[in-house]
Amino acid sequence: MQIFVFEISWQCDKLFQVLYPPHDDLDHFEMNLQTAKIFVAGHRGMVGQAIVRGLRQLGAQQLLVRERGELDLLRQTEVERFFELERPEVVLFAAARVGGIYANDTYPADFIYENLQMAANAIHAAFRFGTQRFLFLGSTCIYPRNAPQPMSEECLLSGPLEPTNEAYALAKIAGLKLCQSYRRQHGVLFHSAMPTNLYGPGDNYHPENSHVLPALLRRFHEARLGGAKQVAIWGSGTPRREFLHVDDLAAGVLHLVELADPPDWVNVGTGVDLSIAELAKLVARTVGYEGEIVYDRTKPDGTPVKRTDISKITATGWWPRISLEEGLRATYIDFLKDRAGKKLREV
Ligand SMILES: NC(=O)c1ccc[n+]([C@@H]2O[C@H](COP(=O)([O-])OP(=O)(O)OC[C@H]3O[C@@H](n4cnc5c(N)ncnc54)[C@H](OP(=O)(O)O)[C@@H]3O)[C@@H](O)[C@H]2O)c1
Repeated sequence: MQIFVFEISWQCDKLFQVLYPPHDDLDHFEMNLQTAKIFVAGHRGMVGQAIVRGLRQLGAQQLLVRERGELDLLRQTEVERFFELERPEVVLFAAARVGGIYANDTYPADFIYENLQMAANAIHAAFRFGTQRFLFLGSTCIYPRNAPQPMSEECLLSGPLEPTNEAYALAKIAGLKLCQSYRRQHGVLFHSAMPTNLYGPGDNYHPENSHVLPALLRRFHEARLGGAKQVAIWGSGTPRREFLHVDDLAAGVLHLVELADPPDWVNVGTGVDLSIAELAKLVARTVGYEGEIVYDRTKPDGTPVKRTDISKITATGWWPRISLEEGLRATYIDFLKDRAGKKLREV
């Protein structure tokens, strides 16, 4: 295990040098993240942890975080009190109620209420108490179910949403529109990033609530340990999906928040997809599972292809750096470390 720990910290150092090259050209940017007072909402989540890692790498000196027990973002009075007292200059909003298809489909009321409420509370309080930059995190699931592929930012609100995550998507669209409206009416730099499917350290490995990639990683790992001859995967294996390492996303978020005139909302992805069957083989190879992979075609497939158009963000100078193979290896090492330390996230 010591070798793993050494290997992951070495790999992370190497990744960070690539993701956050030292920049001495801060004059080009509106916001200096090294000196600004920055509130990362949802810092214990997968995205929030990655943003905090990125900010530390950049040398941010005034980082504000709060556990949910100290600041429940669902409570407007608490949120207003916090902003009035702390007056963060920058807010990176990675707090949300998040889950896979099963959780979204089973708890739509929780998903719409909590995500709407948190976004409205934080965006309005940030505006009232002088926050200069607010970056809201949405998701590419805000785009219509039958959006032309690759999905560009322009397809927002051009057709019906995927019914299984409609409640979540509507709340995220409202968050994006809140930022856009406050920017238009009040001139504040509130804007949004729409990440594709993410994976990486700190992911949720709950057997029912997790997303496809962490779910596969856990199932193949357990199948290898238990000597299972077969692993069954939901659906036909043909749907195509895209995956971005969360440290690449965090670098994208910090890049966007330094731009003087960022887009109101922008996709953050790789622009490259693969089939679920290809993903399953890659995960099986990464964890060393050698049994058979079978497909349960009685289960739904969902949208046939989901891939993002990343031309808008790449035109501003960001692009993904971590390959899926490399990212998966590092994620598996992290999974093993957390599992051995009984710290695996299962919520
Ligand atoms: N994961 C993905 O594949 C993915 C893909 C696209 C977009 N995104 C977006 O990225 C953002 C973060 O996602 P994530 O994967 O990092 O989610 P996550 O791991 O579940 O983290 C969410 C964080 O929000 C916090 N939170 C939830 N409700 C709260 C409340 N009432 N008060 C205070 N904090 C609260 C949680 O706190 P606790 O630690 O206390 O639970 C947690 O730290 C979301 O907006 C999501 O839509 C994620």
